[in-house]
Amino acid sequence: MSEATRRLKWGVLGAARINRRFLPGLKAAYNAELVGIASRSAEKARQAADQWGAPVAYDSYEAMLADPQIEAVYIPLPNSLHIEWATKAAWAGKHVLAEKPLALQPEEIAPLEAVARQNNVNVMEAFMYRFHPQQARVRELLAADAIGQPRVIRGTFAFVMATDTPNIRSKPELGGGATWDVGCYPVNLSRWMFGKEPVSAYAQATLKNGVDFSVAAVLDFGEGCRAVLDYGLDYGRRSFYEIIGTKGTLSVENMWQEPGPPATIYLRDDKGLTTEELPPMNHFRLEAEAFSQAVLDGHPAPYPLSDSAANSRVCVAILESIREGKVVTV
Ligand SMILES: NC(=O)c1ccc[n+]([C@@H]2O[C@H](COP(=O)([O-])OP(=O)(O)OC[C@H]3O[C@@H](n4cnc5c(N)ncnc54)[C@H](OP(=O)(O)O)[C@@H]3O)[C@@H](O)[C@H]2O)c1
Repeated sequence: MSEATRRLKWGVLGAARINRRFLPGLKAAYNAELVGIASRSAEKARQAADQWGAPVAYDSYEAMLADPQIEAVYIPLPNSLHIEWATKAAWAGKHVLAEKPLALQPEEIAPLEAVARQNNVNVMEAFMYRFHPQQARVRELLAADAIGQPRVIRGTFAFVMATDTPNIRSKPELGGGATWDVGCYPVNLSRWMFGKEPVSAYAQATLKNGVDFSVAAVLDFGEGCRAVLDYGLDYGRRSFYEIIGTKGTLSVENMWQEPGPPATIYLRDDKGLTTEELPPMNHFRLEAEAFSQAVLDGHPAPYPLSDSAANSRVCVAILESIREGKVVTV
């Protein structure tokens, strides 16, 4: 079989809830094949493998990494475990797509990058929304000067997390909290769309059980450019960004939700409102396909680890600002 039509063989580390969103995308990808699911519990692994039609159930993460037929792993573990298992997987010669946030400290990225290089594998953080064509279209409109110079980016991501059952999001020791769970998305988006890094961060938060549950943050990108972000685990569902430029505004909804509704882009300028509707698209499938194709073609991952380090640095600055109650240099 030629590399062009070959399917990359994937395994999943953990019978996580997010699998119900990622795995339909992976299974629909033209160039990927789900081989197995690993869990700390043999029973959970078997159930998950049956549910998702994976031929192999592994009763430990180590067992999956030791299986030579697995070429790439998806890591949907608690946030605090991403770096550890991404590094172990890279040492085992597996390509790695790790859920966001890849690192809770930016300094953790360089050692992982060195291991990936040494073992000739791709490692990427799974910000799926970057693969949805609506973001590519927004970037096209920015490049075409549709709204002039971007000055303010407003981004929000929120939902009400059920608190009657245990959740990794409310555990500080597992990298819980709204900044790592939902805030990292609008942080990523604002850095991407401005095309530069913020110089400082200021944030206020509501804290519960030692983690940030809802946050309002301002990132100063210099030269009059700011991101104004709100995100939380304790208020109504929100998924929205707006880029306000010197001549107009672009707004987009639902970009970090489940695949589903058509994607609408709203452009408001002096001439009025123009809307563009893109067809429904599964960004998890597009992410799995782009990652798999890069591996199959021997190309670097679509987004570099330097981006993950930079995103982590900004999230750490937001959390420091919440703790210290002052503006923090990024
Ligand atoms: N891209 C997105 O849209 C999106 C959406 C939601 C979540 N996520 C990310 O996906 C990851 C998983 O989130 P989730 O909501 O799916 O979490 P979850 O249901 O709690 O799954 C995490 C899995 O990690 C494994 N695990 C290993 N050590 C653990 C420990 N000490 N405590 C708890 N679980 C442990 C468990 O699998 P086994 O018991 O099978 O070993 C568990 O099922 C997070 O990094 C989150 O940020 C991304």
